Amino acid sequence: MKYRHLGKAGIQISELSFGSWVTFHNQSGVKSAATMMAAAYDAGVNFFDNAEAYARGKSEEIMGAAFRKLGWRRGSYLVSTKLFWGLHESPNEQNTLNRKYLMEGINGSLKRLGLDYVDLLFCHRADPSTPIEEVVWAMHNIIDQGKALYWGTSEWSATEILTAIDIAQRHHLHKPVVEQPVYNLFERHRFGPDYQRLYRDHGYGSTTWSPLASGFLTGKYLGGIPDDSRGALPGYEWLHGKLTDTERLAKVAALQPIARQMGASLAQFSLAWCLQNPYVSSVITGASRVEQVHENMLAIEFVDSFTPDVMNEIDRLFAITQND
Ligand SMILES: NC(=O)c1ccc[n+]([C@@H]2O[C@H](COP(=O)([O-])OP(=O)(O)OC[C@H]3O[C@@H](n4cnc5c(N)ncnc54)[C@H](OP(=O)(O)O)[C@@H]3O)[C@@H](O)[C@H]2O)c1
Repeated sequence: MKYRHLGKAGIQISELSFGSWVTFHNQSGVKSAATMMAAAYDAGVNFFDNAEAYARGKSEEIMGAAFRKLGWRRGSYLVSTKLFWGLHESPNEQNTLNRKYLMEGINGSLKRLGLDYVDLLFCHRADPSTPIEEVVWAMHNIIDQGKALYWGTSEWSATEILTAIDIAQRHHLHKPVVEQPVYNLFERHRFGPDYQRLYRDHGYGSTTWSPLASGFLTGKYLGGIPDDSRGALPGYEWLHGKLTDTERLAKVAALQPIARQMGASLAQFSLAWCLQNPYVSSVITGASRVEQVHENMLAIEFVDSFTPDVMNEIDRLFAITQND
């Protein structure tokens, strides 16, 4: 495993990391979560991603229990959580980044995780109804209290992030250092031209999510939605449109021979593709069983196989199919 700086922050993060969205609680209890986390850790993963909203807090509880079971030295791994959607149906506790929610939200997350602090605390979405200045001050105060070491944004616009950085700089506050954007062969917009300034000039880091487009880029949906896949889980019917889209399926089928030629599975190929982007600090992988973790961790072996010719071939394929 290689490690990259989180943008220009001092901390180093494994190129591949491991997250718990969908899987923890819905597909994995403590035992299987711990087995998967151990497989990732043994492969060199040092970052575990979570959020308050995942399984309504249960994902944090499971990860916390897994950390206790695994007994790792706290200095050897990074943990994140994210706040925004909230757990309680009241005006100040849902879809918000107001100061009161953030200050209480971090306490709840730390309690569920059984930790004194998280390494990264993300604002899970932007909140247009709370002034960015209020958010920056609250995140700064949480860091000052020692409850988080760094803070970041997730799915914020480049303008919102630049505004937050500017406010923090003007007031000498802890500024956000990392974005958590979607990034895979199908979804590249969060690294588009408006974000270049952020990554290039400000040294903003990125921990990217859904690198396999919810498993679609493994090729497992080419024959329909398998019974034991995310696409078949109750509550994830909203994914069906994308998982059965014929144009998207054709692109995945066309990627198969390119991956095969490299000697990689489609999952490994698609993960390694994300790491071609120098502005990606870590690719957060997800898995519902340990065999997937073993397969996915081997993706790092293919990072150097993406020659300019291969990259052009992939881009051509996407552009050609997009114009069809
Ligand atoms: N900030 C945000 O808004 C945000 C949003 C989403 C996710 N995230 C983070 O990013 C992490 C990863 O996202 P994701 O889970 O959507 O990642 P993903 O890699 O796109 O999808 C992971 C899923 O694909 C399937 N899969 C993975 N490896 C496979 C393999 N080798 N062979 C066959 N199937 C395989 C598994 O689902 P099945 O086996 O069930 O089919 C697995 O749970 C999350 O856990 C979370 O930490 C953040």
